[in-house]
Amino acid sequence: MAKAKITTVFYCQSCGYESSKWMGQCPGCREWNTFVEEKINTKTTVSSSLSRTGREVEKPLMLSEIALNDEERMSTHMDELNRVLGGGIVPGSLILVGGDPGIGKSTLLLQVCRNIANDGRKVLYISGEESLRQIKLRANRIGEFGENLLLLCETDLAVIETTIRNISPDITIIDSIQTVYSGDVTSAPGSVSQVREATNVFLQLAKGMGNSIFIVGHVTKEGTVAGPRVLEHMVDTVLYFEGDRHASYRILRGVKNRFGSTNEIGVFEMRDKGLIEVHNPSEFMLSGKPEGASGSIVSCSMEGTRPILLEIQALVSRTSFGFPRRQAIGTDFNRVNLLMAVLEKRVGLQMSDCDAYVNLAGGMRITEPAIDLGIAMAVTSSFKNRPIDDKMAAFGEIGLSGEVRGVSMIEQRINEAVKLGFTTCVVPKVCLKQIKNADGVKIIGVSSVQDAIDLI
Ligand code: TYD
Ligand code: MG
Repeated sequence: MAKAKITTVFYCQSCGYESSKWMGQCPGCREWNTFVEEKINTKTTVSSSLSRTGREVEKPLMLSEIALNDEERMSTHMDELNRVLGGGIVPGSLILVGGDPGIGKSTLLLQVCRNIANDGRKVLYISGEESLRQIKLRANRIGEFGENLLLLCETDLAVIETTIRNISPDITIIDSIQTVYSGDVTSAPGSVSQVREATNVFLQLAKGMGNSIFIVGHVTKEGTVAGPRVLEHMVDTVLYFEGDRHASYRILRGVKNRFGSTNEIGVFEMRDKGLIEVHNPSEFMLSGKPEGASGSIVSCSMEGTRPILLEIQALVSRTSFGFPRRQAIGTDFNRVNLLMAVLEKRVGLQMSDCDAYVNLAGGMRITEPAIDLGIAMAVTSSFKNRPIDDKMAAFGEIGLSGEVRGVSMIEQRINEAVKLGFTTCVVPKVCLKQIKNADGVKIIGVSSVQDAIDLI
């Protein structure tokens, strides 16, 4: 019998890079101080994956030989989540839900469990973080639960695996992957080799048994799930749950999806009775917009297939220090600097002795260039201290020569603005011919940033 050999390996906790010696900087992801020593049991980890499947070696098949048994997607009865998943949960898929601690991952998944269990499907919720009583307390806040939801507090991978095999639930929740511990791996729970080992087992369970598994993963301070990229490529779908902990709304963002488009977002609001869906995020984002204030304009960004209106605020004031301060909240800082340079050079606004702050109200993070025109107009409005028409929305990308370039899905953006009562839309001139019907709204096509500034 081959004797198990324990070797020491160093793993980057950020990207999973493996090295035989400690290094200050990871050659893989260039992060500093991320290497941690882990002891791995080479014999058992290699052999376990084959014996674990417990299946015969199968022969390869032709596409035509594969029977599709109407792979119906399972609805979570939450439209916002269904959309991010690409229409519902695909049976046999492995889904990673990442996010900061306390953002609401457990709450969201418990609500999903309730909805699916109420459909008459078998659901298993495995928690390594909370006791059964704590889960019950949370469940009481959320509402009524049926008989089909089973709860288990467990962190041992072998026990979890056996339970899933015995019960064979339609949906399993692992909360969280960082608490799952395998005896075969000697390193601590949450380390790269533990996370990798556990995910591998869940992958085989999901694919082998055809039931779906949600894995909860906490995000480290750098913004990645611990042992993250190791995990991201193994699972079918990666969702991040984000939002300002001080604001009540939460955004679920699809980062990877083998069964649907990415970039879709779902918007939720955290209430005292759990998460509720926000079906019209634009309205939500624009609530509290000041009237007649300078430095404020509404722009539109496409999040996947859905347009979202948001208010861009800018404050430009004379600096009291030697060099001006620039700050961007909710958008790319470098992009704001670039747009201000374009305004200085192409429009002749002298802002080199001014502090400038740009903020996307509501706490959304948008990096789509379509909001460039909004940023430029908000900055100019604040600089000149002249308010922009409250019922005006602007979208377009700005190039370095000060030209306004086209954006995609112009009609959807305009329609969204019309729906919320905007009467004027400033759009790139090149997009005008794509607009077929725009009743009840005045469309102004601009070809340069100067044209747009002249409207203020
Ligand atoms: P939780 O789901 O435990 O976060 P995670 O699993 O991502 O760590 O969310 C906990 C937060 O949500 C906590 O601050 C309390 C709050 N919360 C509500 O505001 N309302 C509710 O109905 C529930 C269940 C939680
Ligand atoms: Mg939790």
